[in-house]
Amino acid sequence: MRKAIIAGNWKMNKTPSETTEFVRELLPLAENAECDVVICVPAICIPAAVEAAKGSNVKVGAQNVHFKDSGAYTGELSAAMLKDAGVEYVIVGHSERRQYFNESDETVNLRAQAAFKAGLTPIICVGESKEQREKGYTKALLEYQTNIALEGFEAQDVAKLVIAYEPVWAIGTGLTATDEQANEGIGIIRRAIENKFGKEASDKVRIQYGGSMKPSNVKGLMAQSEIDGGLIGGASLKAEDFSKVIHYGK
Ligand code: 13P
Repeated sequence: MRKAIIAGNWKMNKTPSETTEFVRELLPLAENAECDVVICVPAICIPAAVEAAKGSNVKVGAQNVHFKDSGAYTGELSAAMLKDAGVEYVIVGHSERRQYFNESDETVNLRAQAAFKAGLTPIICVGESKEQREKGYTKALLEYQTNIALEGFEAQDVAKLVIAYEPVWAIGTGLTATDEQANEGIGIIRRAIENKFGKEASDKVRIQYGGSMKPSNVKGLMAQSEIDGGLIGGASLKAEDFSKVIHYGK
């Protein structure tokens, strides 16, 4: 039985002061959540989020990490820096990073490895574009992205990772994958993991759905057998909405 994990991805939203305010509002609402609760905040908001969430069940995540330990990489953050700041999770390979910042499948793999080695849990994003879906490439693409992102990992470590299936056409568009489409996509990812790392890893790895998940559709999505949680953009920006998402069973 996999424990559900719901993570907010704030993207480039909120200041440090707004972060403190948000976390203060969220904590009493999140207290009795049955799932793991994470907020992935902008890097500058990490200290505020960690401080405000201290001792609670709300964990703090980052939105990206560089794959080198240190060096001349102006503007970048290492996994050790994030870990030291109190971060526990980090999103890797979000489609917006791939699309706007030219991140490749290879660097997604390196980032995931660097994060894991430093003791962070990477939330590795994969997902097809509208065009790839329309051409019938969804399965091949998901298998490819999953396999390459997990290259070099041991099966027992894959079991501890979080993967997010984020169909690019459903992100920020208001278009949600149907419950069945989301379940099918995640099923493809889980089978790819089973083929490469065995059944124990594929039974244990948690796979989220992301793409316009919100209070009105979370229940149906979470009822699907393969879906272990969500990566939430827009609906994670208001504590009240996010609280409804993490209480999807109620
Ligand atoms: P939306 O929930 O705004 O569609 O964003 C999804 C997402 O990209 C989460 O990482």
